[in-house]
Amino acid sequence: MTRRSWAEPYKIKVVEPIRITTREERVAAARQAGYNTFLMRSEDVYIDLLTDSGTSAMSDYQWAGLMIGDEAYAGSKSFYNLVAAVRDVYGYEELVPTHQGRGAEHILSQILIEDGDYVPGNMYFTTTRFHQEHAGGTFVDVIIDEAHDPTSLHPFKGNVDLDKLQRLIDDVGADKIPYISVETNVNMAGGQPLSMANLRATYEICRRHGILVMLDATRALENAWFIQQRETGYHDKSVAEIMLEICSYSDGATVSSKKDNLVNIGGFLALRDPELARQARALLVAFEGLHTYGGMSGRDMEALARGIREMVATDDHVHARVGQVEYLGNALIKAGVPIIRPVGGHGVFLDAKAILPHIPHDQFPAQALTAALYIESGVRGMERGVVSAGRDKETGDHHYPKLELVRLAIPRRVYTQAHMDVTAESVIELLEHPESVTGLRFTYEPESLRFFQARFEPIA
Ligand code: F0G
Repeated sequence: MTRRSWAEPYKIKVVEPIRITTREERVAAARQAGYNTFLMRSEDVYIDLLTDSGTSAMSDYQWAGLMIGDEAYAGSKSFYNLVAAVRDVYGYEELVPTHQGRGAEHILSQILIEDGDYVPGNMYFTTTRFHQEHAGGTFVDVIIDEAHDPTSLHPFKGNVDLDKLQRLIDDVGADKIPYISVETNVNMAGGQPLSMANLRATYEICRRHGILVMLDATRALENAWFIQQRETGYHDKSVAEIMLEICSYSDGATVSSKKDNLVNIGGFLALRDPELARQARALLVAFEGLHTYGGMSGRDMEALARGIREMVATDDHVHARVGQVEYLGNALIKAGVPIIRPVGGHGVFLDAKAILPHIPHDQFPAQALTAALYIESGVRGMERGVVSAGRDKETGDHHYPKLELVRLAIPRRVYTQAHMDVTAESVIELLEHPESVTGLRFTYEPESLRFFQARFEPIA
């Protein structure tokens, strides 16, 4: 029987109680956290949509894996299970395990980037760009213009703009571009996929110029789902087959396993070239851990190996995952709330500039909206706008991204349809009085990755 809805392909065996707080408690909690949802205690949160990272519910089979994880310092059985899972599902032979995604980004940036290099990418991600710049590189955005337009209905807003890429190659020379970082289901664009045709074309251009293609395959599964749904020629392929084809157009990948892979911690760098892998392992032992565990315990690796296989075992998992996100998105669209469209793979992104036109960009509309939503409802989201974008390292000015967003990221297999209903109701109610939300200013601004720990106060 074909499934008619996105109903979850599991039943619930264990639950964790959550508590709705009072408005008074939330006003106090927000003030104490400097109006930054990263600084709040989860106890004070009702529905936690801060991130889909490390917040998944594991299956009973994964939990069973924790018990038989092999904690040997060297040569753990669980490591070899992980190697086999990555080879079977992603198709890479060389596995370099790390504690999470940014550990892999660090190692990759250090082995490939030299001072003065350029690293193109289909939109930046915060930690990825940090490590590229930290290694002496300059990030160059080569995503298509539609990605920066919240209203564009382009089905593949994550696509690389091949002309922008070619122009960069012509301008700075291929020898100054060690690799392109291609993100699957682009997070900062709103969870938007790139097409297989675009990835293939990107790979061909790069091969011609001796430039490596490194995927950020953190959300490759969700990208594979959209390719199956939207791209001609892929309707009859399984997401497992599509995943392997995506990875075939690359020389390696960094992965934060805290997303697609259904675990609470972990990540890896995967490569094809054994010589590059050798260089990566040489750094790994200094920064992460021995090459057969990186930053993970044996039980982490066992649960991860199982999560990787589980995510592609049938298409039903990703159907339900993206289906739930679309359910929330469609409820908001129906009520006229301006969100990024098409609805993305891992969350719903509110267009704060459109919702709060009275707040100037340098008073952080998305940060203000995130705090207001928390105070009114206990729903915790995350700013993805000017605060996340940080400052230009040359001029010291804010980066002003075109997208000024509040992200409501949905953890995998954690919340129900009723939680999505409550979330939609909360946003819709808040939008009845948008003028009650005021801008913010910094009371503390960290030098780098400032969104994590910055503090604010409302501008009276
Ligand atoms: N790449 C992408 C696309 C990510 O979304 C993240 C993390 C990372 C790399 C870094 O991985 O956290 O395991 O070190 N994104 C989280 C988020 C933090 O909430 O979007 P990590």
